[in-house]
Amino acid sequence: MQNITELLNKIICGDCNKILQEIPANSVDCVITSPPYFCQREYGGGGIGNETKVEEYIDNLIRIFHQCVRVIKPTGTIVFNLGDKYIDGNLLLVPYRFAIEIQKENIVKLINELTWVKVNPTPKQCLKKLIPATEPFFIFSKTDDYYFNRDAFLDYKDKLCGSKKKAGNDVGKKYFELIEKSNLSNEEKTQAKKELNEVIMEAQQGKIESFRMKIRGLHALPYGGQAGGRLTQIENKGFTIIKIYGNSMRRDVIESNVETIKGNIHPAIYPEFLIQEILKLLTKEGDFILDPFLGSGTTAVVAQRLKRNYIGIEIHSEYVNFAENRIKQDKNNYTLDLFI
Ligand SMILES: C[S@@+](CC[C@H](N)C(=O)[O-])C[C@H]1O[C@@H](n2cnc3c(N)ncnc32)[C@H](O)[C@@H]1O
Repeated sequence: MQNITELLNKIICGDCNKILQEIPANSVDCVITSPPYFCQREYGGGGIGNETKVEEYIDNLIRIFHQCVRVIKPTGTIVFNLGDKYIDGNLLLVPYRFAIEIQKENIVKLINELTWVKVNPTPKQCLKKLIPATEPFFIFSKTDDYYFNRDAFLDYKDKLCGSKKKAGNDVGKKYFELIEKSNLSNEEKTQAKKELNEVIMEAQQGKIESFRMKIRGLHALPYGGQAGGRLTQIENKGFTIIKIYGNSMRRDVIESNVETIKGNIHPAIYPEFLIQEILKLLTKEGDFILDPFLGSGTTAVVAQRLKRNYIGIEIHSEYVNFAENRIKQDKNNYTLDLFI
């Protein structure tokens, strides 16, 4: 077993099945990785991704996943990005097969399925299928005590959109007039004004971006809905208030282009931007980040930029060399503005 500090900020060339066993238990803050996809491409050297049956592929992945669970700290998380595959025109749902097998073992909790929406997906020839444009990033935790900095995720949107901007003095004024004009009962009017005052306060304090109010008899009713939903609220108390959270409502979706890196020799890199946002969400400066399928080094490059420590494992020496150069060149050569 290695001392973890000896492995920091290094790339180990080898099979992660073996190398992971050298990493001490409970020593890593976050594993983030994109294993080879099922039957997608030949990286050479055999191994994961080249199995003939999807069940075999998933068994192999699970073996590696178990090692990842062993090496993360109780506060740690594991992020697996997997792609899907059509065989004979049939979509296999590979990522979900994997996640469901993991769920059955009850050794981790799936805390989020973060969906990457590809802004520029790779065009496909088939005219009788839509172009796949999403991939899941499954986020698992070992305990309920995992590190999670929700405000840091996509926080640049707060700066760009000014969603934290506080509402002015006039906000919501028109609704007081509408409540008075409405045919709500006196009791309903009193309650509506009370809740309107509360939500105005939230907007003025910047807790929400803005809000809308719908009043019985004045506004179109929302369609459908379940008991306790907006329709029921309008029927029972005469109004409903819809709060708009802007980016303060952190959603489990992230949009990004498919990555292109100058001089890249690797066929399947994931976007730096995605990894940046996930690492901001799940780790802090000085943390230890492990990628057992490092490829071109994206995880390590981003970890370095964010002042985290990385440990990379990659089976192919040409990718290790490429990643090492990429990390070295990136060290003094990026600006955060461009990065966002
Ligand atoms: C999908 S790619 C990862 C790409 C990476 N996320 C990036 O941005 O460059 C998967 C990588 O895993 C490597 N690999 C395959 N089997 C491996 C194994 N058993 N141990 C370590 N690396 C392996 C492949 O060579 C490939 O570079």
